[in-house]
Amino acid sequence: MHNIQENLAPSSHFSISLPWHVFRILLIFLGAHMANASSCDSGSCPWDAGVTETPPDPILPILPPVGRLRLGDGLQPSPYTALAAPREADDWCNMPHVTLEAYITPPEEYVLRYVEVIQRHHKRTPYGSNLFYDEDVEWDCAGLGPLYGLKSQTTKGREAPSVQWQSYVDPQNPFGSGQKGTIVTSNCQFPQLTTEGLEDSITHGSDLRSVYGPLLGISDTFQPQEVVFRVTNNPITSQVASGILKGFYPTDTGETHQVLIQPSAIDSLEPRYSCPRADALRNSFTTGTNGTTWKKHLQKAHDDGTFGALDAISGIRPDDGEWHVSFDHYFDNLKARQCHSKPLPCSLTIKSSCVTEQLADKVYEIGNWEYSYLFRDAPGALEYAALKFGAWMLELEARVKDTVTGNNKTKYYQNIAHDGSISSLLGFLQVSAMTWPGMGSEIIFELYSKAGSTDSWFLRVLWKGRPIET
Ligand SMILES: *[C@@H]1O[C@H](CO)[C@@H](O)[C@H](O)[C@H]1NC(C)=O
Ligand SMILES: *[C@@H]1O[C@H](CO)[C@@H](O)[C@H](O)[C@H]1NC(C)=O
Repeated sequence: MHNIQENLAPSSHFSISLPWHVFRILLIFLGAHMANASSCDSGSCPWDAGVTETPPDPILPILPPVGRLRLGDGLQPSPYTALAAPREADDWCNMPHVTLEAYITPPEEYVLRYVEVIQRHHKRTPYGSNLFYDEDVEWDCAGLGPLYGLKSQTTKGREAPSVQWQSYVDPQNPFGSGQKGTIVTSNCQFPQLTTEGLEDSITHGSDLRSVYGPLLGISDTFQPQEVVFRVTNNPITSQVASGILKGFYPTDTGETHQVLIQPSAIDSLEPRYSCPRADALRNSFTTGTNGTTWKKHLQKAHDDGTFGALDAISGIRPDDGEWHVSFDHYFDNLKARQCHSKPLPCSLTIKSSCVTEQLADKVYEIGNWEYSYLFRDAPGALEYAALKFGAWMLELEARVKDTVTGNNKTKYYQNIAHDGSISSLLGFLQVSAMTWPGMGSEIIFELYSKAGSTDSWFLRVLWKGRPIET
């Protein structure tokens, strides 16, 4: 494999693709890290099969140690204002993805051979854990519910219909009163995709089809030998898959299609596998000895009244740990509202006391800083990202190899995942500007061969529909 950059000097658009050999070395380097992970017993480490080579030396010049990568240089940046990631100008509620209009087509001697898409799910209700005890807005999911059921290939089982979930809390159920008010009164799953999220998914699928359908010659009907869709154990990714499939196969009239899913305990896409070493590392740079910066940013949010203002309006108790160990919950709650044109919350007791746009923006700024810190800037962030998402990278590597060797004819593979998947992968790839990946965020790996040559393969990585900057 060759570095596409050297071959295409005049094309600046193409010059930031990830050269294959760098990608390969990254995998070996990170795979070797994972082989040391405490979750793997020696001799039975699942990574060993894919990682047999010794990490080449030197590694660091290839993983650029400069710029935003602050590994072991003793820098202790001040709390979030100094490190704040640039304000995300993109639409966080529906992030940019490839479209026919904006797609940058490489010179024609490069032939697209395989595409692997990974995206975050689209917009949804908040998680139950991110709801206040009582909310001043309603989430209505009448007629909009996830499908479940079972089908088989036998005569009787073939026509068994799917069923649709409709959430409710029975007033006779004595445990209902222990639920948050919104959960009791709403007919939604928390979380589930909203109508808007389903529509964004359909548009997303349609845009992907418009770009890759013609380039890869993908059939108009679902053909499992040429396309693969994969979801996680969280049902919202299957809800997105429904929309993606509708957009990708517009003439489809609602047939059931099989998608891939791994066992929950080892799901590499969500990711769900146990990795004590990753957990320990994250603890070290948040609550542990390397967590000075992290602790300072939380202390600052206490000292400057940010948490206080939010708690007073939401009714969240200041001693509720979940809401004060990061800005995850407040971020998700406020964004979910704003992504669905709902007002920012007001206090239920003092109706005139509301979260202002300015306060919400501050929550988003801190949230973006947190993602930049956790996956990019913290001491150990790179290794953390690699441990979190290395298993999926090994799988990707095998799929790319199978295409190169001609062992597998799959042309298109789409993974529907989560912010934790996308952020780990962005950290792994060392994206230049790390923020909290919004709804529908998309990373695409495109594998090219060069016409007239059998051993020239190139990999281009797209982030937000454009070649990634790392
Ligand atoms: C803290 O970070 C330094 C590098 O900056 C690293 O060498 C050290 O092992 C880390 N400590 C822990 C407990 O992870
Ligand atoms: C080709 O790859 C896809 C996706 O990984 C997999 O589901 C399929 O079983 C493979 N096919 C063959 C013939 O190996």
